[in-house]
Amino acid sequence: MDVQGKTAVITGGGSGIGRGIARCLAANGMNIVVADIEQAPLDEVVAELEAAGTAAIGVRADVSDLSQVQALADAAVGRFDSVEVLCNNAGVGLSAPIAQTSIEDWRWTLDIDLWGPIHGVHVFLPLMDAQGEGHINSTASMAGLYCTPSLGAYNVAKHGVVALMATLERDLRLANSKVRASVLCPGPIDTNIVDSQRNREPASAAEHIETEAGEKFWNLLTRSLAEGMDPDDVGPLILDAVVNQRFWILTHPDMARVTLDQATTMLEDRTLTR
Ligand SMILES: NC(=O)c1ccc[n+]([C@@H]2O[C@H](COP(=O)([O-])OP(=O)(O)OC[C@H]3O[C@@H](n4cnc5c(N)ncnc54)[C@H](O)[C@@H]3O)[C@@H](O)[C@H]2O)c1
Repeated sequence: MDVQGKTAVITGGGSGIGRGIARCLAANGMNIVVADIEQAPLDEVVAELEAAGTAAIGVRADVSDLSQVQALADAAVGRFDSVEVLCNNAGVGLSAPIAQTSIEDWRWTLDIDLWGPIHGVHVFLPLMDAQGEGHINSTASMAGLYCTPSLGAYNVAKHGVVALMATLERDLRLANSKVRASVLCPGPIDTNIVDSQRNREPASAAEHIETEAGEKFWNLLTRSLAEGMDPDDVGPLILDAVVNQRFWILTHPDMARVTLDQATTMLEDRTLTR
């Protein structure tokens, strides 16, 4: 796709990876619709993009709510007439062993991390099909390819996102659609995800069960993310996938080799050891 003058919608664009994607696509001539649940960072990104000469709007939207995702699409089309790129990027994470994962934790994580991308595909795919052009990218994670302990709800959601996008890519190809799909599976990126609960309803957050194992894993993760990739370095990978029709986007391809270990243990009928 030639992205110049086209329009991209980026959910979770107020911070981290989404903000980096917005900056990169804007620098390459796209109009930008930034969506986020947090108003202040949303306003900040839009002001930054506009100051750099990009046509941009911000839409406050909770991706776990289908009607808000529909309103996001309406606002984007209302302002720019079409949407050629959608990045289903908004996401949250928390850590707890499955035995101590509350139903509220399951719902909160799956509602945003899995239902968010499902809503995005459901709303934007017909629009792109009718346009005869489009690209839908969703942000999964290495946790969509391999299961680390103490991250059950997140692993389930992100495996779901990989399945959603891999199936969509095949469906689109079989239907000779002009719409393309891709999935981003980042390794550690230095963002605000460790502070995900900032956007959570207090009643739902109160149900979170703190455990020693969960906290230990989260501290490990926090340290690894702080040393992780600059989120601004992810945008060019998305641009490349859109322009060159790539499906898999891995920020740390070497880490993905762990999936080979997983496949080997399955074929050899062994229990996973790490
Ligand atoms: N940071 C990493 O190392 C890493 C690794 C793998 C995957 N990811 C994924 O990358 C994506 C972006 O996360 P990030 O690391 O940039 O974190 P971040 O917290 O910096 O950004 C996430 C953004 O999503 C927004 N958001 C949260 N809930 C929302 C909702 N219900 N509706 C709309 N917006 C919402 C937040 O306000 C925030 O602006 C997520 O899907 C995350 O799971 C991150």
